[in-house]
Amino acid sequence: MHKCTKIGIVGLGTVGTGVTKLIEKNKDLIRKRCGFDIEIGWLCDIDLERDRGIDLSKYRCTTNYMDVIEDDEVDIVVELVGGTGVAFDIIAQALKRGKSIVTANKALIAKRGKELIELLKNSPKSEIGFEASVGGGIPIIKTIKESLAGNRIKSIYGIINGTVNYILTRMEKDNVDFGTALKEAQKKGYAEADPSLDIDGIDAAHKASILATITFGRFIGIEDVFVEGISNIDLMDIKFSLELGYRIKLLAIIKENKGEIEIRVHPTLIPLEHPLAKIDGVYNALSIFADFAGHIMVYGKGAGMYPTASSVIADIIDISRNIKNSSTNRVPIFSFVDEIDVKIKPVEEIVTNYYLRIMAVDKPGVLSKISGILAKQEISIEAVIQKGRGEKDLVPIVMTTHEAKEKSIQKAIEEISSLDIVGGKPILYRIERLEDGPLM
Ligand code: HSE
Repeated sequence: MHKCTKIGIVGLGTVGTGVTKLIEKNKDLIRKRCGFDIEIGWLCDIDLERDRGIDLSKYRCTTNYMDVIEDDEVDIVVELVGGTGVAFDIIAQALKRGKSIVTANKALIAKRGKELIELLKNSPKSEIGFEASVGGGIPIIKTIKESLAGNRIKSIYGIINGTVNYILTRMEKDNVDFGTALKEAQKKGYAEADPSLDIDGIDAAHKASILATITFGRFIGIEDVFVEGISNIDLMDIKFSLELGYRIKLLAIIKENKGEIEIRVHPTLIPLEHPLAKIDGVYNALSIFADFAGHIMVYGKGAGMYPTASSVIADIIDISRNIKNSSTNRVPIFSFVDEIDVKIKPVEEIVTNYYLRIMAVDKPGVLSKISGILAKQEISIEAVIQKGRGEKDLVPIVMTTHEAKEKSIQKAIEEISSLDIVGGKPILYRIERLEDGPLM
């Protein structure tokens, strides 16, 4: 048995720094748990000057990732560069040399996961661990790939972007404006290098694509995910939603019904009494419904240096144990050996409840015109709130609907927008009741 696993960390940003600190702090504990050491063979970054609170003189450092990849003693390359270009090259080169990979790179997996599968075919002893790609410190990938392996998973609802959840929480609870809340999230190291990935829902869509892929048995890429972000969220809608008994969350929705999968990420009204509605700040949570295990929830910090480092090290230990026990690829990268034929349901075909806010003049007949248009599309209104008065100023009319087809609500919105008593396009959010199905 080797006495240690040698790793090379490429990318010393927030997460790379966290992994280095974790290994420094918990080295003895890891040795006791595993019977071997995790040794940092290399640290690699283009900037080796910045103070990260680590004494870099204790390590072999380089600015050239090929030094790490070409070192025969390195067993695992930890790719923490991010993005889908250089990061892919690092992984491809390392796999070619028979090394294993640990990465937190959700964009890379969601966009180029199929290529990774191909690369692994030529490097049968290599593994790719990506626990840190979804949910920060929450062990969700292993939960789905291994702990629930005997179950058919019917639905996953997830708050899986810490930055957005932080912004929504600060807006609602502390009346902080969008821009200030975003700056705070950036300062805390939660946001992506390009924060529009968070705000536009793309980061959550990357994570949703990974979850759907390991859940349903065929590669489901980012292009399969319907996505809307939170950049247009208005405090008014957050408050009206609360009045109606809902909280707005950027929710990843992944569900399967008769071989058809819905996969979408958008601002969603969820019932205040559901545990997901209580997830505040940078916390992430996932609510999973599996046919035998039933309802499961996992909760934890979805971003940040230490939580994400915890997931990276879990993969490093897992792969190291597999190497030591000659059992690499015990679990297939995306959890299925045989592909399953599942179809993605187009978003126009979904059926759900809706929240609508229409800015309209306040005079007799307005509401009946709007409800007439909804009725023509067979959309039934569940609740209405109208606040404010004034025939000149526009006032908000807020409605929730019973279940309706997306196609129909979009047609209704188009027609409502064209009314001269209405100002601008109505605001539309989807509502999810988050009800569990029956077991089995
Ligand atoms: N920007 C991401 C987030 C980081 O805020 O959740 C963790 O993936």
